[in-house]
Amino acid sequence: DSSRGSIMAAVLGLVAGSYEQIIFGYRVKTAEKEWTAEADFTHHTHTASISAVAASQRFVATGSKDETIQLYDMKKRTEHGALLHHDGTITCLQFYGESHLLSGGEDGLMCVWSTKKWECLKSIKAHKGHVTSLSVHPSGKLALSVGTDKTLRTWNLINGRSAFIKNIKQNAHIVRWSPDGDRYVAVINDKVDIYKLETASVTGTVTNPKRISSLKFLNNSILAVAGDDESVRLCDVDKAEWVCEFKAHETRVKAVDSFSMEDYCVLVTASNDGFIKMWKIHLKELESPTLLGEVNTSARLTCLAVWTPSSEQQTDEKPASEATTSKELTQVLGKKRRVQIAAEEVILEDESKPKKKKSGKQ
Ligand SMILES: *[C@@H]1O[C@H](CO)[C@@H](O)[C@H](O)[C@H]1NC(C)=O
Ligand SMILES: *[C@@H]1O[C@H](CO)[C@@H](O)[C@H](O)[C@H]1NC(C)=O
Repeated sequence: DSSRGSIMAAVLGLVAGSYEQIIFGYRVKTAEKEWTAEADFTHHTHTASISAVAASQRFVATGSKDETIQLYDMKKRTEHGALLHHDGTITCLQFYGESHLLSGGEDGLMCVWSTKKWECLKSIKAHKGHVTSLSVHPSGKLALSVGTDKTLRTWNLINGRSAFIKNIKQNAHIVRWSPDGDRYVAVINDKVDIYKLETASVTGTVTNPKRISSLKFLNNSILAVAGDDESVRLCDVDKAEWVCEFKAHETRVKAVDSFSMEDYCVLVTASNDGFIKMWKIHLKELESPTLLGEVNTSARLTCLAVWTPSSEQQTDEKPASEATTSKELTQVLGKKRRVQIAAEEVILEDESKPKKKKSGKQ
């Protein structure tokens, strides 16, 4: 994952949510052989189980069945209030850049939040039924969402409009762009459909033995997949085949995240068995990953995010013009050079509109 680059070991954190309403924060200490995760903080502000967690450099956002999003300021190390807008379980959260947070919920809404004043810039009725997952394109211009209305939708984040709707005939519960943004995957139960952006068509499918709970691209072609069993599997999305499998936990794996070190990748897994584990994976060899370290939270974990203040997200230079088909979107994306700037301008047009809805309680 080139967007994260190599990470200074000293500033790495792990944040996990649980059924027990508690959020666990750990600080990772790296060493040549064994890594340790030291308890850093716990928060108990939610009143129901935690369903989603996301981290930017500054903030950790958590979503819950209690219908709220809670914020933690990682710099000041304080609670930063709640975002009350959704009417139902928060199902997905994703920061893009340092400037925006996207949330999705069982109320069918997808919201775009500014992280400056925590205003809801856009609230879109994205799906009939629940929004189950969303993913922002690495350019910051597009988002994909899936929901319980059997559609996969592409959103133009510049104008907040639906750009492309694909009927996928079944309810997908996870959608994710690859780091290069030239492909994406949609998960339906135990099945991963691999799509090419250019054609918006399925180029391959892999099937996991159990329902899939979480996945993460380790690079643009290797996808780590976890589900309702104790194993994690790596899939080569170019070939649409499994390339590695290992037993990670005693019970089902609920969440995976990863980050890149200089010459290897670290996969972090969280399970119902209470453990968070860190695995070293050499992408070039893809042998059995080795365990770097683990911690017993003694809670039933539901979600996980790696936090690092040095993470950066790439965005393109200029906002895209309106595009209405997948092909046009490909062209819009294809024209731009990749540069590293803040994602701020992506939503700029919206900020000038008087339609702003204030719903942050803070
Ligand atoms: C990702 O890792 C695989 C496995 O080593 C490698 O073959 C492939 O070239 C890598 N892909 C990219 C896009 O870096
Ligand atoms: C994890 O911690 C809990 C609570 O301290 C303990 O009961 C449990 O046995 C531990 N699990 C393992 C595998 O050590």
